[in-house]
Amino acid sequence: MPKIYVDRVVDDLYILRIDDDEVRYFEALWSIPEGVTYNSYVLLTNEGAVVFDSWKHVYADLFVDTLKNIVDLRDIKYIVVHHMEPDHSGAIPRLLQEAGKEPVVLGHPIAKNLFISFYGFEPKFRVVKDLEELVVGGKKLRFIYIPWLHWPDTIATYLEDLGVVLTCDAFGGYGTPKSLYDDSDSVVEEFLPLARKYLANIVGHYREHIVKNIEKLLGLGIEIKIVAPAHGLVWIRNPRTIIDYYYKLGKAEPENRKILVIYGSMYGFLEKAVNIAVEELVNKGFKVKIYRFTDREQPHISDILGDAIDSNAIVLGISTYDGDIFPVIRYVVQLLIDKINADKPILIINNYGWGKLQEDKLNNLFKTSKFKIVDVVYVNGLPQENDVEKIKQNIEKLVNTIPKHD
Ligand code: FEO
Repeated sequence: MPKIYVDRVVDDLYILRIDDDEVRYFEALWSIPEGVTYNSYVLLTNEGAVVFDSWKHVYADLFVDTLKNIVDLRDIKYIVVHHMEPDHSGAIPRLLQEAGKEPVVLGHPIAKNLFISFYGFEPKFRVVKDLEELVVGGKKLRFIYIPWLHWPDTIATYLEDLGVVLTCDAFGGYGTPKSLYDDSDSVVEEFLPLARKYLANIVGHYREHIVKNIEKLLGLGIEIKIVAPAHGLVWIRNPRTIIDYYYKLGKAEPENRKILVIYGSMYGFLEKAVNIAVEELVNKGFKVKIYRFTDREQPHISDILGDAIDSNAIVLGISTYDGDIFPVIRYVVQLLIDKINADKPILIINNYGWGKLQEDKLNNLFKTSKFKIVDVVYVNGLPQENDVEKIKQNIEKLVNTIPKHD
């Protein structure tokens, strides 16, 4: 049974959070043993209640039952759909069924079309414009388009009287934190890597929109006291922590001296070659994060992407398989390009027995991206003395290519 939280965030704004510890593959794609939360919010006013987003469809009954503890469903005046992905909109059809007097659904024009196509009926839908204001029971709501965080339909709502910005996917993260709020350093420290992983997996493809939308939000000159996303922590103690972290990751800015190493080694020959590179990096004072695909372990690609976005450089170990690139590494390369696509240097180490890979093929692997291949090192079987030297020289070349950041 998933854990459910209901709490008053501030004044008449409530959070309804469910911890989804049953989901294993978010979007049927990303491994998340850490789970995820769905956060909905309700604002009570003397003119009726406003519900912001809901939970995933499998929790629709639980959502409606939980909401009944806060508000008489007949008193719901508006339901704001910040984004139509069903992890947030999934319980809204059930809510509309139960609500009696039909509330008005508010959202982006694209959300209206998506609602009809997803759920097969048209609710009382009112499209809102970018920066449009709505006063409900004396409380001012301002809708702000934040497209591509994570779909083109995404909007945020600013509750002016409370200084709260409700941001849906933006500023969210995986995990089921033990607190609702950023109320301790330990909760924040545990959550930030899960926010990074989530950002890389889900909105990484739209990285430049993270930067643009944050600049738009901050440029409005509004006072943001609380950031309330639809996944993970609500930021009350220091909302700038998550805003600034998202901004930095949106630019794919690296952590100090962090290098990512990814390889797939069937029988350990490539592993030996990669270990030479790792030892050299450690000797040079770099912090190395290693993901290895072997006959003993298979890391989650969702985690690899999370660690790629703030790395300075990448060492990619590729075994030859069927005369071609080791299949899982080919998939990792595709996702690095799709989701991270940043100006980061890459050193490739190809280990082969009978099938040395063509240099052109490897050099062209990242051709369509911003990643830059520094060089390709070939190692035939067990690394020999001259391979050790080659690898060390190329590590030197790699670290000298790392772009300078302020
Ligand atoms: Fe959490 Fe894009 O939905």
